[in-house]
Amino acid sequence: MKHELARLEIFLTRLAFLLCGKSVYQAFADCLPLNGNERVLDFGCGMGTVAYYAAKKLTHGHLTCLDISERWLNACRKTLRSYGNITFLQSESLALSKDSFDVAYCHFVLHDISEDELERVIPALAKSLKSDGVLVFREPLNQAEKLSVIKRQIEQNGLSLKDSRVTDIPLIGNALESIYTKQ
Ligand SMILES: C[S@@+](CC[C@H](N)C(=O)[O-])C[C@H]1O[C@@H](n2cnc3c(N)ncnc32)[C@H](O)[C@@H]1O
Repeated sequence: MKHELARLEIFLTRLAFLLCGKSVYQAFADCLPLNGNERVLDFGCGMGTVAYYAAKKLTHGHLTCLDISERWLNACRKTLRSYGNITFLQSESLALSKDSFDVAYCHFVLHDISEDELERVIPALAKSLKSDGVLVFREPLNQAEKLSVIKRQIEQNGLSLKDSRVTDIPLIGNALESIYTKQ
């Protein structure tokens, strides 16, 4: 039963990806500050919805797709099977090396993580960025309390807000998109 529910969830996400891929996921990938040669982390990649569009932009760069779930990571491998510039990592982020990425992004991931876990995850993400590296997130706006924890944690870990906006996402509703830079 548990396996069937997980398969259904992946099937429904694949359907949403087919129907709304461009308006939801490509639109976010288009906001990432990429020239094409960066080392990028997709934290909580799921089935690779955003990674599919981000990887296309990295003509001379590299994308690491990280997820805590082996099942989602396998779905991501399938979505990105035609790309050669990807590393897949099953982890909770603590395994990330210092100063590794120019850009890290989280698309609808951080709001789902408990406050205790965020206290480990956000420092690990901040450390994994190079100096001047960029962290981008898009999270649902209706999670006000969690959003203030996320923002506080990010700022306490040496990142400064560069830009922020609210976008209305088809089928999902309003989300906060923020870009932070590491000093
Ligand atoms: C709502 S899904 C979003 C997936 C993808 N970013 C997207 O927008 O389609 C959240 C993903 O984050 C992953 N996740 C949750 N907690 C995590 C953690 N501590 N470390 C890594 N991945 C995590 C889940 O397994 C899931 O694949």
